[in-house]
Amino acid sequence: MFLTCCPNVYSMVLKTQINFIDNEILLSLDLQAPFKAILKKDFLHIYQDNEPKFSLPISFPNIIHWVYNKSLIGFRINNNTYLTDQAYKLKELLSGKLFFSKIQDFYAPLQILGQGSSAKVLLVKSKIGDQYFAAKCVEKNELMYQEIEINNQLDHPAFVKIKEVFQGETSYYIIMDLLSGKNLQQLIKNQHGGLTLEQCQKIMHALLSGIEYMHSKGIIHRDIKPENIVLQKTNNLTTLKLVDFGLATYSNLKKFKYPKCGTPGYVAPEIANLTDKDTVYGPACDIFSAGSVFFKLLTGRDLFPGTGFNFVLQLNKKCHIDFSPLTLKKIPINVIVNYNKY
Ligand SMILES: Nc1ncnc2c1ncn2[C@@H]1O[C@H](COP(=O)(O)OP(=O)(O)O)[C@@H](O)[C@H]1O
Ligand SMILES: [Mg+2]
Repeated sequence: MFLTCCPNVYSMVLKTQINFIDNEILLSLDLQAPFKAILKKDFLHIYQDNEPKFSLPISFPNIIHWVYNKSLIGFRINNNTYLTDQAYKLKELLSGKLFFSKIQDFYAPLQILGQGSSAKVLLVKSKIGDQYFAAKCVEKNELMYQEIEINNQLDHPAFVKIKEVFQGETSYYIIMDLLSGKNLQQLIKNQHGGLTLEQCQKIMHALLSGIEYMHSKGIIHRDIKPENIVLQKTNNLTTLKLVDFGLATYSNLKKFKYPKCGTPGYVAPEIANLTDKDTVYGPACDIFSAGSVFFKLLTGRDLFPGTGFNFVLQLNKKCHIDFSPLTLKKIPINVIVNYNKY
């Protein structure tokens, strides 16, 4: 009855639906006959003689293999090879959304840029276009999917962009923007007595803007420390990036997967003292860590000084802070409140 009363409304609804479906198509691929493919946001659909044959979900840990013969000529899924002259376009649209194979076809390693607790970061040169990137090499583990998924949600100057993710035999490789400056740990190392007040203000303003944005997206980093804050350019303190989302989590979970984590010396006491692993905590833990970084920048000293993981962790748990290094430096209160001009 609705249809007979309102044929125009019905045709309008139908049109909208068709448009909606068309909008989902990111790329229609001409493959070698009898195959065709359609890339949508969540799936790559392969058709044989116009009949659906196979759908690849666009998510980790799925993998697409590229067929490379001097240039990119196709892709392989489930041992079936599909040749197409749109392979570069397809690769661009899939970048960072699932695994690619054969990093050696696309990048040449040049040198080690940094090493953390779980990964090595290498300087690599792209074989297509001669550009330089950083490649984080991580041993295979499940947490890595979350590291990428969370990083992919952050679109702000304080975070690097992930370009592609490769799967090797024993490792994953995250290709990301290259940061050519030092990390804050390296920057502070040779500056006895800390940085100047102006330098500290610039760094803290850039860091806190990134943290504010990240928290507004419902994400907690959980491992903010000088090694995880890297300058994009040497001597430019305002272009810093907060890296390493290996321990990051969504803040709205009822229970965290790895609740007790972080680094002694920087971890918030509510995490260091956690006994009931069902207890959740909030984004303020990142602010505590940022405060520990701030203290180190200002004074050149650790907030919880000492050597050895357990010794520092005990001090961190008690959280008795000696503020006298700040008074010795006669640091005025406007260091903390007067950073708007940056
Ligand atoms: N995009 C990048 N460009 C240059 N150096 C980087 C980049 N990302 C990380 N690094 C360096 O590599 C180190 C280790 O990287 P990180 O992601 O923190 O690994 P981990 O998870 O093992 O701690 C960092 O402390 C930093 O100095
Ligand atoms: Mg790190």
